This record gives sequence, C-alpha cells and structure tokens, in this order.
Amino acid sequence: MRRKLLVGNWKMNKTPSEAKQFALEVVKGALYAQDHEIDLGIAPTYLCLQTFKSVAPKNMLVFAQNVHFEDHGAFTGEVSASMLKEILMDGSLIGHSERRTYDNETSLKCAKKIRALLNNDLIPLYCVGETEQEFNEGKTKDVIRLQLEEGLKDLTVEEMKKIIIAYEPVWSIGTGKNASEEIAENICGFIRDHVEKMYPSSSQEVRILYGGSVKPNNIAGYLRQNNVDGALVGGASLTVSSFAEMIHALSE
Ligand code: 13P
Repeated sequence: MRRKLLVGNWKMNKTPSEAKQFALEVVKGALYAQDHEIDLGIAPTYLCLQTFKSVAPKNMLVFAQNVHFEDHGAFTGEVSASMLKEILMDGSLIGHSERRTYDNETSLKCAKKIRALLNNDLIPLYCVGETEQEFNEGKTKDVIRLQLEEGLKDLTVEEMKKIIIAYEPVWSIGTGKNASEEIAENICGFIRDHVEKMYPSSSQEVRILYGGSVKPNNIAGYLRQNNVDGALVGGASLTVSSFAEMIHALSE
C-alpha cells in the first residue's frame, strides 16, 4: 500500500524567517497528517533548508530543489548530495521543468544527479512532463518515455523503489490550467507501466505525484485516481492555511 504524499515546492520564495514561521505554524496540520497516514514534504531554497529542518515537525520531509552530481570540486554556485546529507536533508527535487527550461537540465544530467542522491541515501523526486506544444501535438507519452528512460537509467530494482516521480505538465504549472483528473490518471498510469517495463517488480512501490495548479479545491479529485499517490504543489503550498486545507482534503 503506497502512502499518500503531499510535497510543497516553494521555488524562489520565502526568507529563512518566513520559512521558520511556516514550520512553526504547520504543526497542527502535520499531526493531522500523521494520524491519517499522509506523508508531507517541503522543498525550500538552499538558504532556508537548515532553519526549516530544525523547526519543522519531525514527520515532514525536507527536500532541496536541486543538487550537483559531483561530490565536490570547482563548481561555483553548486551544492552536492553529501553536503545535503550532512545537514540532514531527506532528498532533492530533480529535473523540475523550470530547471529544464532555464538551466539546461537534461534527463541525462538528471540521471547523474539521481545517482549522486542514491549513493548518499537521499530520496530523488524526479519531475517529468511535456510542454504545451508537445501536448497539442499528441507527443506526451513519447516525451515522458524518453525522460524516464534517460533519467532513470542504470538503477537496481531496490533503488527504483526509493524514487518518487512527479508528473507535471509544463502547461499546467502556475497557469491555473490544471490537467483533468483523467489526463493525470492516464499519464501517471503510463509512467507506472513504463517503470515496470524498465524495472520489473518495482512499480507498485513507486509513488507517483501529479503537479500543476493543484489547489485545496481540486486535490482530492486527483488523489481518488488509482495511479496518483500525491501532489507536488507550488503556489498553494506557500501559506500554512492552504497547505493545511490540502492535507485535510487528502484524507477525504
Ligand atoms: P503550481 O502549483 O504553482 O502550478 O506549481 C507546480 C509546480 O511546479 C510544483 O513543482
């Protein structure tokens, strides 16, 4: 049985003091989540990771938003998986569409980052999704198949089971144009089938999230789908009130 998972991606939002305030105020919601077997996570900026982790409820996973694939060296501005490990992080987002678009993040580069995280016992949360043009041209599954094959190559079955995948159609991120429940289920189901082809006997344990304009009023519909195990949420994760509303909606 896969546990439900709600992860907030804060992107480039919140100062350390704002992150601390959120961590203090989310305690009630986190307790409710614990009682209802829902897992929680937040991905703050690097600058807020330690402050957030030190104050956040113990059952809240803390993810970085990116990681470098090398362990150390001359890579100005980068942070490695072993550094995240030492400050007690749980994992990192990998391959978010904003990084694919603005930072030339390719799926092959994502594979190296996923390897670095796994080598440090950290959880990769791998994001995949098609652009609006690819969606309109009916190429969604082709795009995602390639993102899975390149990003998740050279793993063991046990490693595959530790990875979380988020399906985030690029056209739905921050636009209010969320994918229908049918599309989310269809593509998350496709992802699970393809993971099974790549790593037989892994896919029933892999958690697959939907992301893209998820809000308190639409999250429950996604979670009713067989292959959607949770949500990766941007804008609606920024206030404690809407984050808590989503936790409650998930338990319905
Ligand atoms: P929004 O929920 O703001 O559309 O962002 C989704 C997202 O990119 C989460 O990673």
